Amino acid sequence: MNYLGKHIIDIDHIDRDFIENIFSITQRLKTQNKLKKPFDNKNICTLFFEDSTRTRLSFEKASNNLKANFHNLDLSTSSVNKGESFFNTIKTVESIGMDIYIIRHGSSGAAMFAAKNLRGTVINAGDGSHAHPTQALSDLFTIKEQKKDFTKLEISIVGDFLFSRVARSNILALLKMGSKVNILGPPELSSPKISDAYDQYNSLYPGNLKFYNELKQPLINSDIIMALRIQKERFNKETKVDLENYKSKWRIDKELLDQCKKNILIMHPGPMNEELEISHNVAHSDFSLINKQVENGVFVRQSIMQNIFEGED
Ligand code: CP
Repeated sequence: MNYLGKHIIDIDHIDRDFIENIFSITQRLKTQNKLKKPFDNKNICTLFFEDSTRTRLSFEKASNNLKANFHNLDLSTSSVNKGESFFNTIKTVESIGMDIYIIRHGSSGAAMFAAKNLRGTVINAGDGSHAHPTQALSDLFTIKEQKKDFTKLEISIVGDFLFSRVARSNILALLKMGSKVNILGPPELSSPKISDAYDQYNSLYPGNLKFYNELKQPLINSDIIMALRIQKERFNKETKVDLENYKSKWRIDKELLDQCKKNILIMHPGPMNEELEISHNVAHSDFSLINKQVENGVFVRQSIMQNIFEGED
């Protein structure tokens, strides 16, 4: 079930059955890739108020695979540059006529605001530090392909939990699916106090979420390490992170992998700051699922939009 109806705003609105259903559709698309019928009467629009490579392009490819009409509002040449507000921009695009709005924005809550003000369906493509649900669903599908049973997995996520929307969505999705999750990082980026979300996850899934300010010991029993991007662009006067210190203590590199399980797998949502949070050798090694995460992102996003359209007919 999606408790928010058709909108995909965050993982907390969707349950395990909904996630399993998206995985089944995705699996079918990957193996058969046959469209039951074209969605050529449907209009999909990306509105990206923040930069993106993989999310925006994978939604475009997914829309084309569905034979829907794809539109992109190019923010760099839009009337936003003449001062048009977010509200007036989305209402203008609505008047032109869209069925699905895929919105990325620097402010947490922007996608929910759009969902409350638009007639069509809103998919959150990342809002501030809040949520990135389609990244989480793509990442979990990639894990399921490799490891099958979420309840047997211990996943260590390493890095910037202060600003990462990917972390907030991935952690909740993994806990919902029954995995154990370790949060690893320096206290200034990974204390339980940095977000109410982590307090809430702790009370919903007691014992399955652990915080560590050290790297090696929690990695010994981990099946997967997920490195997060250090979000330098969101740093402000209060952010006290020494990047050289971070690199020496927290980077996922080959030396560290030698101390992990032999079948350890490495993930990163991208874009990477190579050599800061992950070494080039590890990112492009046989342990790495990073390119698979991107590849699966197209199929998972296609499944989500197909599911929305089929629910409307
Ligand atoms: N992971 C992710 O959202 O990447 P992009 O910013 O390239 O879309």
